Amino acid sequence: MNKSISYQPLSYEKPSKEELLKRSEAFLDLMKKRRTVREFSPEPVPDEVILNCIEAAGTAPSGAHLQPWHFVVVKNREIKKEIREAAEHEERINYEMRFSENMKQDIAMLETNFQKPFLEAAPVLIAVFKESYRIDDHQVRRKNYYVNESVGIATGLLITALHYAGLVALPHTPSPMRFLNKILNRPANETPVILFPVGYPKEDTTVPELHRKPLEEIVTRF
Ligand SMILES: Cc1cc2nc3c(=O)[nH]c(=O)nc-3n(C[C@H](O)[C@H](O)[C@H](O)COP(=O)(O)O)c2cc1C
Repeated sequence: MNKSISYQPLSYEKPSKEELLKRSEAFLDLMKKRRTVREFSPEPVPDEVILNCIEAAGTAPSGAHLQPWHFVVVKNREIKKEIREAAEHEERINYEMRFSENMKQDIAMLETNFQKPFLEAAPVLIAVFKESYRIDDHQVRRKNYYVNESVGIATGLLITALHYAGLVALPHTPSPMRFLNKILNRPANETPVILFPVGYPKEDTTVPELHRKPLEEIVTRF
């Protein structure tokens, strides 16, 4: 059954060419400063900031507007400890058995290992789940569309919003991450995608000196 929907005027103000350029340059400067941080200060962050950033992530476009995402915010120490233990269990197996030699070489410069102290040190964890499928009002399993693309965009908005607000985050993937469904009590139609420790950086923390591909390498223009 098609549900009819009403239309409303678009809220939009056309900027001048100068303003367009100014805004795009300012945003680029801001984004160039985003870095993955692996050492956090224990200082708490305001709940409202985290919720605003998640609400911003929820403005993402999605296939058929099904919004196939769910975000879980964890501040509770015991739950963070449980998540750390489960993640370290998986990551120990990853480093010892599941990661290929090629992958180990590719991540060697990050100097990471199976230990994940940031999962307890960061004041907040945000777990992002994708709704791989949905259950409708009649308990029938229904397909969602372009779930990975939609949740990828929402996750990008989330890290952008956190960075814009002045917080740091670590995209962490201690795969397989099904343990998060159990610990965080999420239903089987939701699959964990990424886990973000979020907070302020530890004082004097360092980040690897990485180089981003230059524009010419990532763009083709006709
Ligand atoms: C999907 C995804 C998964 C990642 N998983 C991990 C992870 O499990 N552990 C980690 O330390 N970093 C992880 N990272 C962070 C990357 O190593 C980092 O983004 C990359 O080295 C570039 O550094 P930058 O974010 O500071 O630009 C992940 C990043 C992405 C996008």
